[in-house]
Amino acid sequence: MYWIQRSRFAIFLCIILYMKSAAPAMAQTGGLAATPPMGWNSWNHFAGKIDDVTVRAQADAMVSSGMRDAGYIYINIDDTWEGERDAKGVIHPNSKFPDMKALADYVHGKGLKLGIYSSPGPQTCAKYEGSYGHEEQDAQTYAEWGIDYLKYDLCSFKKMMDQAGSPEAAHRTMLDAYTKMHRALQKTGRPIVFSLCQYGADAVWRWGESVGGNLWRTSGDITDKYSRMTEIGFSQAGLSRYAGPGHWNDPDMLEVGNGGMKPGEYRTHMSLWALLAAPLLAGNDLAKMTPETIALLTNREVIAIDQDSAGHQGDRVRAEGPLEIWARPLADGSKAVGLFNRFDWPMEMRLEFSEIGLTKRARVRDVWSAKDLGGMEGGYAAQVPGHGVVLLRISPE
Ligand code: GLA
Repeated sequence: MYWIQRSRFAIFLCIILYMKSAAPAMAQTGGLAATPPMGWNSWNHFAGKIDDVTVRAQADAMVSSGMRDAGYIYINIDDTWEGERDAKGVIHPNSKFPDMKALADYVHGKGLKLGIYSSPGPQTCAKYEGSYGHEEQDAQTYAEWGIDYLKYDLCSFKKMMDQAGSPEAAHRTMLDAYTKMHRALQKTGRPIVFSLCQYGADAVWRWGESVGGNLWRTSGDITDKYSRMTEIGFSQAGLSRYAGPGHWNDPDMLEVGNGGMKPGEYRTHMSLWALLAAPLLAGNDLAKMTPETIALLTNREVIAIDQDSAGHQGDRVRAEGPLEIWARPLADGSKAVGLFNRFDWPMEMRLEFSEIGLTKRARVRDVWSAKDLGGMEGGYAAQVPGHGVVLLRISPE
């Protein structure tokens, strides 16, 4: 009897200690974004030409294309939805969005979530109304509409930072602004993912979590070109240690399906973003997708790498000029590996298993061709297309 009571007490003690150790991280991120957020954002394709009708059509297509069932949940309205403030200072959408609450209800009715956009400055990047001086009021309005995600874009807040007097004071001013909105969102009691956008300034990965960020942009804007996509993607080397459940590095939204890259280049885009544990926010017109675009965006094995529950971001293993090998440790003990050829012509690339911490024999699966290649001794070599990738899942035997 005495032993049973003692062991019960020991189990109880273990649970309490575990809860205490997990508590700070959960409190900071509110338990949100346990894996990198997946969804769609209006900016890359529609920019200022976004309205209620278009957003509803994107939500419809998210479901009918199978993207929702593949994990894409957030429908995020970017800049240019903002209208004027009324006499009480309450923000209203402009005429493109007649009823934000009705739109949120529509999106929620499809099993999706709705995101919105603002700036800590007086104006957004497209010169619409920002949240400066109205942070709590705006957070409250978003919560009343039923908003689930906020992208908070520095834009005109740069002026406030310039007035701060010194680089240190400017840095503090920026952190305070993000913390202020984080607290305002928390105060609403509604779980709202907080996405920081300040283009990676002041090494945001070092402090993004401390101001309540669930994700933070690590770079300037992406464009629909192989050169810009890879410039951003491959510059993420060394950042892996700053990402984890609830707080992610964000190398910007996807360009897949927008037409500026070749299919093999979009495959590189998806593979690199999955290895980087990057948020997967499609940036194309979901209502007009080719079957190839849908296949690229919904590949279950690629998404499984991105969304791996361990939440370890991948990093560069080795670069031999434009030939780069990246690897990401996965929850089941296997590794996702990308052999990237940044040349414009095919090249042979070889990975030694010892380079990714595996012993001599390992099982290799080619992810995009969905083929088990069997057990291999020592390493694996493949022909990699120009601007292309061979994405592998390698497990110890
Ligand atoms: C900035 C951001 C973009 C987009 C635009 C909107 O450039 O980095 O992602 O939100 O503003 O104006």
